[in-house]
Amino acid sequence: MDIERVGVAGGGLMGHGIAQVAAQAGYQVVLREVDQKRLDAALGKIEKQLARAVEKGKMEQSAADEVRGRITPTLDYGDFADRQLVIEAITEDLQLKIDLWRELDGIVTADDAVLATNTSSLAVIDQAVATKRPNRFIGLHFFNPAQVMPLLEVIRTVTTDDDAFETGLSFGQKLGKTVVSAKDKTGFIVNRLLVPYMLDAIRAYEEGVGSIEDIDTAMKGGAAHPMGPFTLLDFVGLDTTKSIADIMFDEYREKRFAAPPTLRKMVSAGYYGKKSGRGFYDYSGEQPVAVEPGL
Ligand code: CAA
Ligand code: NAD
Repeated sequence: MDIERVGVAGGGLMGHGIAQVAAQAGYQVVLREVDQKRLDAALGKIEKQLARAVEKGKMEQSAADEVRGRITPTLDYGDFADRQLVIEAITEDLQLKIDLWRELDGIVTADDAVLATNTSSLAVIDQAVATKRPNRFIGLHFFNPAQVMPLLEVIRTVTTDDDAFETGLSFGQKLGKTVVSAKDKTGFIVNRLLVPYMLDAIRAYEEGVGSIEDIDTAMKGGAAHPMGPFTLLDFVGLDTTKSIADIMFDEYREKRFAAPPTLRKMVSAGYYGKKSGRGFYDYSGEQPVAVEPGL
């Protein structure tokens, strides 16, 4: 199926980036958030990144204007009626996502529209069956920051038809992503391996192996990771990481997926990482400063 019109639900860390890469690839994008403040924040981030690309000489001003012009912000899901592909990137919570799909199912008019979730850890089938068209439902799992990370995992469920799956694969290719397909197993490929590693870094800290900064420095210098695990945890979002851990633990019942106490407590305290200004680092100054949680 040829796609021209895309809807993105949620303009947080992932949604704004997905909207931007889709618009950069020439798609007409409608981006929906829950309120004007969050919608403005999402657009502000996109505009800032486009301006930076122009400043660096990576994009002409006219091209940046065209990309911005292809993104229509909205608070109204009614604007998704003519969408051919809808990608949800809302909070990692199954009930919220089910509620969203029940609503969108009655709005998106084309029976053959492709519906996709960017979930990190939920089984895709559990959202597919909330719609009347589980055959058109897939997973499109982007990586943070979506504008930069090359990979896209494309997931088919037991109900996905060939055309919907192939549309997902070719959409990823048109975005310039490296596309891999993954089975509808919680965490898919990357998070199945990456999430236990991030959680283990917290357990290593709890056991006193090293400080936040030293563990980060060690994994950058000793394992060539672009970010140490605590910087990455803050970057992904501690609230999102905890939700992912809870979902994966619920599915697999293995300790490696269990959220460590420090993570739970930081989320309870509202320390969500970079997006909230504080996580394992404090982001209020010019440079992030490690904060030993002491919990
Ligand atoms: N949003 C958009 N673009 C960003 C960005 C952001 N948050 N951060 C950096 N960039 C862009 C910069 O503008 C720059 O672009 P150009 O090359 O076009 O100039 C480019 O990325 C490189 O940025 P920097 O030189 O400033 O910094 P860097 O070389 O350190 O790279 C990084 C930044 C790409 C984020 C790198 O640190 C990195 O790869 N970190 C690891 C990220 C990672 O592992 N992501 C996966 C998380 S897990 C996940 O996403 C799955 C899940 O379900 C939880
Ligand atoms: P986030 O907290 O940054 O953003 C979620 C956004 O969804 C919020 O801005 C919220 O206002 C919005 N939202 C909630 N309900 C909504 C609704 N009904 N309609 C429109 N918007 C709504 O979270 P995020 O990190 O962007 O994660 C979003 C999804 O992407 C989750 O499923 C997450 O697991 C997945 N994901 C996250 C990452 C990551 O590194 N953070 C990477 C890949 C996938």
